[in-house]
Amino acid sequence: MPVTYKVLTPHDLDTIVSPRGEFARAVLLGLSKHEKSLPSRYFYDDEGSRLFQRIMHLDEYYPTGCERCILENHRDDLADLLAGEPFNLVDLGSGDGSKTNLLLSRFLERRLSFRYVPIDISEAAVSEQAGRLETTWPELEVRGIVAEYFDGLLWHSRDGSRRNLVLFLGSNIGNFRRSEARTFLRTMWSLLADGDLLLTGFDLKKNIDVMMRAYNDREGVTREFNLNLLRRINRELGGSFDIGKWRHYATYDVFSGAMESYLVSRVEQEVEIREINQRFHFDPFEPIHTEYSYKFLEIDIEELGADTGFLIEDQFYDDRKYFVDSLWRVEKPIA
Ligand code: AVI
Repeated sequence: MPVTYKVLTPHDLDTIVSPRGEFARAVLLGLSKHEKSLPSRYFYDDEGSRLFQRIMHLDEYYPTGCERCILENHRDDLADLLAGEPFNLVDLGSGDGSKTNLLLSRFLERRLSFRYVPIDISEAAVSEQAGRLETTWPELEVRGIVAEYFDGLLWHSRDGSRRNLVLFLGSNIGNFRRSEARTFLRTMWSLLADGDLLLTGFDLKKNIDVMMRAYNDREGVTREFNLNLLRRINRELGGSFDIGKWRHYATYDVFSGAMESYLVSRVEQEVEIREINQRFHFDPFEPIHTEYSYKFLEIDIEELGADTGFLIEDQFYDDRKYFVDSLWRVEKPIA
């Protein structure tokens, strides 16, 4: 027999698990592990993005309120730094943009010359926000990008003529493992130019009860947000998850310094996922890990900045020191 071999291309793989190859592969990998997990980035389909908007309005979910206060109190400091030359205000993971509006309104009042570049994976989020902005501030130049963070930044960075202020708000950095956060920030550094600015939201370590309440709200919106991941598998990959047989569980891990979210099987069960031709078995009480939300000390933030090539320009805190928006400047060696 002749020996043949075939190098599978991403296209071939997509035909096996089409139409939603990447998500399907992540589900296959995650649920095949001994300790099952699903990546939190898949929370954010249109339904998940809507649920997350609701979380941000909950009393218990303090990061949003803290960050609003921070931006209200420090938007003039940012405007002072940026006045004088045209710049891009790049908003990574812009969502509904309600916090960013605080900056937009002040920057427009102060007649700064800038373009707003929201980048978000949810098309609904970007198009709805763009529509609202057009009505509120018709004079504002908006260039929305629907993409993953770095695809969007790479696309944006082709036009390198202006200085950038990149916003990475809302403690999104906390959803990466520590080593991933380093890689993420270093990649960001590579894509930006000397003197560009990055404003990142970090949720600080605090009373554990406060953090526990934020991820276990009374209305159960966070529960629905977590469960939506199983609903998404049902919708997009032909899964047979019976949602009533799962519970949301979120707890603080004192060793890792993260709030961690799980979906826990209430019973022994089999789940079929047609799109990947698999059945998965779950024991009673078996967890699927779904999210890390890391919390930080000031020293962690200083080390992260120094390790990834940034200079810490300023730290903007809320009154209770629950949260910090940390302003970093890209430093590149002179070639
Ligand atoms: C988007 N991210 C920063 C949120 C967080 O706090 O980790 C997502 C979230 N998960 C549960 N509640 C909110």
